[in-house]
Amino acid sequence: MPPPHPESHPELPPGFRFGTSTAAYQIEGAAHEDGKGPSVWDAFAAQPGRIKDGSTGEVACDHYHRYAEDVALMKQLGVGGYRFSLSWPRIQPTGAGKPNEKGLDFYDRLIDTLLDAGVQPMVTLYHWDLPLALEDDGGWINRATIDRFADFASIVGERYADRVEHWIPINEPNVVTMMGYATGVHAPGRTLMFDALPVAHHLLLGHGRAAIALRAAGATSIGCANNHAPMWPASDLPEDVGATKLFDAIWNGMFLEPMLLGRYPADLQPLLANNIEPGDMATIRQPLDFYGVNYYNPMKVAAAPEDSEMPFLLGELLGYPTTDFGWPVVPDALREWLITFRARFRAALPPIMITESGCSYGMGPDADGVVDDQPRIDYLDAHLRAVATAVQRGVDVRGYYTWSLLDNFEWAEGFTQRFGLVHVDYETQKRTPKRSFQWYADTIAAQTKSV
Ligand code: NOJ
Repeated sequence: MPPPHPESHPELPPGFRFGTSTAAYQIEGAAHEDGKGPSVWDAFAAQPGRIKDGSTGEVACDHYHRYAEDVALMKQLGVGGYRFSLSWPRIQPTGAGKPNEKGLDFYDRLIDTLLDAGVQPMVTLYHWDLPLALEDDGGWINRATIDRFADFASIVGERYADRVEHWIPINEPNVVTMMGYATGVHAPGRTLMFDALPVAHHLLLGHGRAAIALRAAGATSIGCANNHAPMWPASDLPEDVGATKLFDAIWNGMFLEPMLLGRYPADLQPLLANNIEPGDMATIRQPLDFYGVNYYNPMKVAAAPEDSEMPFLLGELLGYPTTDFGWPVVPDALREWLITFRARFRAALPPIMITESGCSYGMGPDADGVVDDQPRIDYLDAHLRAVATAVQRGVDVRGYYTWSLLDNFEWAEGFTQRFGLVHVDYETQKRTPKRSFQWYADTIAAQTKSV
């Protein structure tokens, strides 16, 4: 990690959008209020042993009641954009039929408060909290879920398209497939291994159908939020290189190639062939106004022993500093990934947005109430500089949304990992902006001044 640069801030081009991001289940709470139905995450978190600290998102950051305070924090931060997700079961309690007016009203209030504060909404339709009733019918294994999702997209598009700047149908379809349906670390906790591949195809179709529905409802900027990790082989041995190529196709290629090129990576075609119906690939390949990248770190991949359930093993990348989550901090890999991505897709690639980037460090307020999170400042500084260098080398990156505004419910890790620019005391719900909050505010202010 390069030394911090207290005297200067990363410089991005004029008009570059600085933002911050969250997701409904991770912050809203109010799990049973105003007619909201249960989601797969409500059910999963309630099962003993699923969440590291035994917590749930029932209350989380209580953002449902405190959204005005949270928007005021964003105004103080000076961000131009805020990425958040809609809770599908808050709007359609069983995932189908007539919408719940009180759920729709909540997002009306949130969007209007954001706009009053000068913050442009970037709305994700699906950040993993599937209505439980749909999971009871098979969830994303069932092709019918795609129709339900397209209906949901029409409802929210018609309601909010007049006020929402950017739309994202589905957050990280690779993580839903792998962690939700293949390994079961996330809701709905299914362990289908390679049999989870139809989920990927159905999520991609959900992305395409939602994009069509949103555009029909008047949305003008539609993108995606795909998690991408550069894949590094553990050694030069052909088996490690081969395993890396396969895992790269599954983690990265399986989602970006259909979206941008309308086809699956060659290695995966045979595995998915039975699921593809005529017209599917054209539905998936919708014109995108931006390509959203959620970046955290590269992964080290090795071939697994012969008798393993999966052909690859993910190992620890040594020689890098790590966050409190144990994730390696490798900003150069973001720069290289962006440059290679552009070189590979060129004309097929719309402008890029970094829809998530951030790190978990656990420090809380000291005796003076100060949260000194210098490692987060270093992390954000280095990653923004990596983006700035990629931009100088010709990659069209238009924005950077930090993950996350607030400390929040980190899925299977519960409240043990803190990603926020703002510290949350979960006992009192007190919000304390960390030093990184001020640093990000200063970076944004320096940028605006230089324009
Ligand atoms: C990506 C996910 O979209 C988000 O929900 C999660 O909290 C962060 N990664 C950190 O793991």
